[in-house]
Parts: sequence; structure tokens; C-alpha cells
Amino acid sequence: MLNKEFFDESYLRNFVNEGELGAWSQRVKENHEEIHNKTGEGNDFLGWVDLPINYDKEEFGRIKTAAEKIKNDSEALVVIGIGGSYLGAKAVIEALDGDGKTKIYFAGNDLSSKHMNNLLKELEGKEVSLNVISKSGTTTEPAVAFRILREWMENKYGEEANKRIYATTDRERGVLKELANKKGYETFVVPNDIGGRYSVLTAVGLLPIAAAGINIDDLMCGAEAARQKFDNENLAENEAYRYAVYRNIFYQQGKLVEVLANYEPGLHYVGEWWKQLFGESEGKDKKGIFTATVDFTTDLHSMGQYMQDGNRILMETVLSVEEDSEKIMIRSDLKNLDGLNYLAEKSLDEVNKTAMEATIAAHTEGGVPNMIIRMPKLDAFNLGYTLYFFEKACAMSGYLLGVNPFNQPGVEVYKKKMFVLLGKE
Ligand code: PA5
Repeated sequence: MLNKEFFDESYLRNFVNEGELGAWSQRVKENHEEIHNKTGEGNDFLGWVDLPINYDKEEFGRIKTAAEKIKNDSEALVVIGIGGSYLGAKAVIEALDGDGKTKIYFAGNDLSSKHMNNLLKELEGKEVSLNVISKSGTTTEPAVAFRILREWMENKYGEEANKRIYATTDRERGVLKELANKKGYETFVVPNDIGGRYSVLTAVGLLPIAAAGINIDDLMCGAEAARQKFDNENLAENEAYRYAVYRNIFYQQGKLVEVLANYEPGLHYVGEWWKQLFGESEGKDKKGIFTATVDFTTDLHSMGQYMQDGNRILMETVLSVEEDSEKIMIRSDLKNLDGLNYLAEKSLDEVNKTAMEATIAAHTEGGVPNMIIRMPKLDAFNLGYTLYFFEKACAMSGYLLGVNPFNQPGVEVYKKKMFVLLGKE
């Protein structure tokens, strides 16, 4: 019935039984219809559902052409954006190996003068392009960073700067769109019906990812496979919906925090992307699971203590990469002074996987339900598949929780206060 290979529920038996899960089937079916017929809350923002098959092929071609130009004329691409306008690209670029021709830097995701100064020093003497990304075109952090970096580019390149600046924003409206038109920047579109945190597979994510030398066809193919796989109203057969239901069951059991754990440092920013996707989508109306991330085994020596033994408010989702692409072996040592010969002829990855399986078992025993996402390998196809899995699960999970997973009214509150303090009219 179930394909256990991707979403592994085998450690959940002591926490939920199939009957409890099945009780959610009808609601899942109804919410599935709302997602696909666009009749639920936030239905203006469901463009991501069919994006893997409906994307703008003309723009996709332009993205590839622009990426080639950047790889040929730039040693550095600075991607300016915050939240959903940078985390998807950062997640994919950090997780996968690009071709290394152009180094990708990120700016405009904070207001730190130190970060900006270090970046400017780093760019000195290099050939540079910019990709400024903002759906609204008015977000303070990227707007400020763009003003500083635009001036830097214009001082360095004069008029040619305009040929090295790419703007990803609304199709028609906004300050950034107007500026781009005036200056003649090449522009790419954040579709109206796709919110920032669901935009990784639009130009928002794709241009920086392609410029890093990562295959965006494979990424989209993975997402397309997931779109097909998770387009199924039947809870028994849809792993994305099962994940969504488990999260809600655990939340109702008092597990208010979900920790996403990885055992691969390159997945750190996939965790950050996931944290935003679920945190910003569900944390509203005084409800929602607080999303947190850990990098194992590193954090086993810090947060591992809390997870095993602290307040039992946790559920855990483990992001595992099944294939060992590196095959680094631990060899036998004649003298065995470090006493490690019991590991001889094991690969480093086998030890890592054993640490993972042991930790899953320990945390499960400690009362933390563990859900495992088993990615067969870390490549563009499987990452595209995984990102879409999470998007679909997030929409379902938000609807099951009874919130609109596509707005973020809470984010506006700090902005309004900051604008007052900064004297914006
Ligand atoms: O998910 C979201 O909608 C947000 O995180 C936005 O992406 C973020 O606030 C940046 O907005 P913008 O692209 O309008 O600058």
C-alpha cells in the first residue's frame, strides 16, 4: 500500500495507530479538493501546485541564457533577497555541487554593516553580476542592500552595470519593476499566485541555482515527479498528506515543536528553507508548531541532550540521504593506538548512518516521535522532489490546523513599527 522508501513511518508505531490516522481521511480528502480546486483560504496563492508542469517555458529558457552569460562574464553573482526570496536558492546551492564557475554570494537578508563590508571586500577586483529579488519590491533589507550594491556596480562598470543586474519581481507593479524598466535591467517574474516561501521553483530560485551551474531541468523533473506522486486524495497512499496528518496528531498530543534534523552539513539551508516554509505558513491565529533545525551529529553534542531528555514537547523529522556518494574508508591501523580498529573497513558514511539509526532509536525511546524522509541521493532531481513534497505537505498541514498557510500577517507588525521609528512616510 505504501511506498516506505521516501517517508518512513516505521518508528511511529508507539505514538499513533493506523485507526487514529485514518480518522483524518475525510478531512484530507476535503482539503485536497480545496487545494486542487482553489476553493480554500488563500486560494490566490496556489500557483505552485501545478508549477512543475505549468511553468513559463519562454522564461525558463531566458533563465538558462542569463545564467550562461553570468557564468561567462562573472566570477561572483550577488543574490539580494530575504525570506522566500533567498532561502530556496541558498538551500539548493548549498546542498548540491555546482560547476564552480561563478561563486554565489547572498546579501540583503540582514541589515548588518559587517556582513556588507565583508562582502564588498570580497568582491573587490572580481567581475560581478547582481540578481535582486523582491516580489513586493519594497522590502527594506534587500532594498537597502541593492541601493548600496547598485552604487558599487555603477562606480565599477558605469552604464555596463545595467547589463549585469537582473531583477526578479512582480510582472507589472512595484518600485523595483519601475527601476528595472528605467535602467533596462533584464527582468524575471515572481508569479502573482505564488508566495515567497513557495517560490523556489520560479525564477526566484532558478536563476541563482542555474548560475551556480546546477541542472534546473533535473530539479524541475524531480518536482514534476512529486507533483504526480502526491496528487492523490487518498491518505493511505499519499506520503505528503500522511506527514501532514502525523504533524497535526502530534501537535494535538502537546508536541508543540518540530525539529528537522540532518546528518549532512550541506542540508543545513534546506532546513532553514523548511523552517520558514512551515513556520511562516502555520504560525498564526495563536496556533502552530514551532519549527527548529539541528545539524547532526554536531548538535548531538549540544541540543542532543534536550532532545533526549528535556521537556517532551518535541517531534522530530529526519532528513536522510541514503546513498554514499563519497566512499571514504576507515582503514585498519597496525598499532591501533586510538583503539578505532573496530571501525576498520567501514566507510565514514556507514558510521554516520549508524549514528543516525542509533539516534532515531534513542529519541523514539525517549518519547520523541521520529519521521524519516529518505532521499535516495543528494542530486537535483531528488532535491526537487523533496522540496515539492514539503510544499504539498505544508499546504495540507496548514489547512488541517485551520489556518491560511499562504499569508503572513504577523511579519507586517515589526515592519510597521520599524518604519515609524525610521521616519518613513
Ligand atoms: O514567504 C514570504 O512571502 C516572505 O518570506 C517573503 O518572501 C519575504 O518577506 C520577502 O518578500 P519580498 O520578496 O516581497 O521582498
